[in-house]
Amino acid sequence: MKIKNICCIGAGYVGGPTMAVIAQKCPEINVTVVDINEKRIAAWNDKDVENIPIYEPGLSEIVKKARDRNLFFSTDVDAAIDKADMIFISVNTPTKTYGIGKGMAADLKFIELCARQIARVSKNDKIVVEKSTLPVRTAEALKNILDNTGNGVNYQILSNPEFLAEGTAVDDLMTPDRVLIGGDIDTTEGKEAVEALVDIYAHWVPRERLLTTNVWSSELSKLTANAFLAQRVSSINAMSELCEKTGADVNEVSKAVGMDSRIGPKFLKSSVGFGGSCFQKDILNLVYISKSFGLNEVADYWEQVILMNDHQKRRFAAKIVQTLFNTVSGKKIALLGWAFKKDTNDTRESAAIYVADYLLNEQAEIVVYDPKVKTEQIYADLDYLNSRPSEENRSRVKVVNTPYEATKDSHAVAVLTEWDEFKDLDWQKVYDEMLKPAFLFDGRRLLERETKETIGFEFYAIGS
Ligand code: UDX
Ligand code: UDX
Repeated sequence: MKIKNICCIGAGYVGGPTMAVIAQKCPEINVTVVDINEKRIAAWNDKDVENIPIYEPGLSEIVKKARDRNLFFSTDVDAAIDKADMIFISVNTPTKTYGIGKGMAADLKFIELCARQIARVSKNDKIVVEKSTLPVRTAEALKNILDNTGNGVNYQILSNPEFLAEGTAVDDLMTPDRVLIGGDIDTTEGKEAVEALVDIYAHWVPRERLLTTNVWSSELSKLTANAFLAQRVSSINAMSELCEKTGADVNEVSKAVGMDSRIGPKFLKSSVGFGGSCFQKDILNLVYISKSFGLNEVADYWEQVILMNDHQKRRFAAKIVQTLFNTVSGKKIALLGWAFKKDTNDTRESAAIYVADYLLNEQAEIVVYDPKVKTEQIYADLDYLNSRPSEENRSRVKVVNTPYEATKDSHAVAVLTEWDEFKDLDWQKVYDEMLKPAFLFDGRRLLERETKETIGFEFYAIGS
């Protein structure tokens, strides 16, 4: 089975980069990315390719070359579905904010809408690929909707979870550790569908990295991978608090521990807390699924990873208040960084949002600088928490265009995202223009203590 036309529903952080790379690597396949959000599609089609809605190193170059050749962005979802042999579903699956499973389970309403739309439109057989992270056995629900509301055509459902990390999405897509493809490997049709997707990735990924499994293993592997990664961050963050009490340094501990080849060095960097659209959502999902099978010990075990992360964010904010003589009321605090990690403009679940909210509750005046995040996004993130009227967020939080505007006349500076440019700021200038004593809080272990203390800063870094 040779795939000629691909449709991807959802032009977000996952769908956009993934399809751009497939289009680049498979010039004979037409790839159409569709989305109900007209503004987002218009941005993907913007003449100036630097205006595409997602910032990822290397992405705009790829889009520039492939766009309107075999990569298209459109709001005509029906047309793209109709034409496609293979449809990727890459819509968002946020944590439910209502009803059963509120705050835990994934909200699958967008997935279901996609399935119903595919069923309504399709006139020939399709392979439907789950790209969004989904609870185990969602494929079954998808198949059920497609088979029962469709026009009698045949569907094969594959699970092909995404492992790309934001900020390194293009590299991760170009040279993945593995590509996981789950399908109905017990039937001939299922095997053929799996092979069709394997053939696409085989354009650039070595065969031995293309892993095929049954659908349920594939769905669960994605949740497991994210849970393990987040667990490492929470584990080292737990140690960071102990380091601060004992005189140990968390960077030294993580280096020593990570040199054990059984443990390895990655994901052992202590921070103000993990963020991003996946870790928390996927673990909550895992907790919810475990509970629904009555596996309370399993659920509690994984929930602790989230509780530790919440604690770390609160602890960092509380440290600022405590250090500033137990009050930040009316004090100007500069936050450097708002994105949940460097090299992305994504802010979902970013620790910065929670630190800012905590400080605002303590009546601080906040000034934010982030090199890539837009002002409206920062206000939207704060408004979403519903902690205070949105006018108040606008009057008490300022967003500025340079780091020095943020730090000038501030009582304290907190580094919340590890953007490279923060390492090379003119820290003497920052110090000179701040109120004294000049407090500097490093939530990312980005800055070197010695030089900052020599300048005169009162310096606090997580885990030391
Ligand atoms: C992805 C995955 O899909 C999610 O499951 C994973 O856990 C995180 O990453 P992401 O690409 O980051 O989501 O989400 P987002 O940037 O929000 O993009 C989703 C897009 O789907 C949005 O642009 C939204 O407008 C679109 N959408 C949503 C549709 O086109 N149709 C819908 O019915 C719902
Ligand atoms: C994650 C997974 O890595 C990826 O495989 C999956 O597809 C989606 O979820 P992402 O959330 O984009 O990717 O970024 P990641 O690099 O995993 O970072 C997540 C958060 O953990 C960030 O806030 C980051 O700052 C934090 N982190 C990461 C740490 O605090 N310490 C570390 O050592 C590593």
